[in-house]
Amino acid sequence: MKSYIVAISGASGSVYGIRLVEELIKSKIPVHLCISHTAFSIIETETGLDLSGKTEAETEKKIQKYFASKNIRYYSEQDLAAPVSSGSFITGGMFIVPCSMKTLSGIAGGYANNLIERAADVVIKEGRKLILAPREMPFSSIHLENMLKLSRAGVTIAPPVPAFYQKPKDLNDIVDFVVGKLLDSAGITHSLFKRWGGNHKKSSK
Ligand SMILES: Cc1cc2nc3c(=O)[nH]c(=O)nc-3n(C[C@H](O)[C@H](O)[C@H](O)COP(=O)(O)O)c2cc1C
Repeated sequence: MKSYIVAISGASGSVYGIRLVEELIKSKIPVHLCISHTAFSIIETETGLDLSGKTEAETEKKIQKYFASKNIRYYSEQDLAAPVSSGSFITGGMFIVPCSMKTLSGIAGGYANNLIERAADVVIKEGRKLILAPREMPFSSIHLENMLKLSRAGVTIAPPVPAFYQKPKDLNDIVDFVVGKLLDSAGITHSLFKRWGGNHKKSSK
């Protein structure tokens, strides 16, 4: 089973990243997780979860406890010597969920200034799957140009935009739909939502 890198950067919608990790772990897919400094505080603000510890090892323990799995490794964004920093370390690819405009621009510029940007740079150069869920509203032309540049480099740009033909009952359904679409982009099977079967009610007019 190939492992995946998951990065949670400092944009709103951290719950999508958390839900994605839960689903990968449930599918027995090993996860290499990197959470940016800002993302830790956004996770706490948006979900009430405090995943940060005093050291990288303590944070990893907290994360493994929360996800009830040892199949997840955590690396600090400063840890540029982490395995996922090298192309020789093979993974199935990488998700950045949610992806801030700052991280998007760092990847589009090839800046590789932290582990998230470096791992993404490696995934692109090695021709592996990189899936970004950029979150901002509205997008400026700078954001859109960065997305177009990355799309042309083979990156999947999958903003967390829910659909409503599923008739979501609650927030969980909306989150599951978005996470399911992200997993679809990587070709990972899931049963997070019911697929469209075309059996909609036709308008009488
Ligand atoms: C509560 C909160 C919500 C934020 N939401 C977004 C967002 O949705 N999109 C975005 O691009 N930046 C957002 N930001 C700003 C980023 O966190 C900021 O640009 C940061 O430098 C991103 O760094 P990172 O990508 O390394 O995590 C938010 C910041 C805070 C504190």
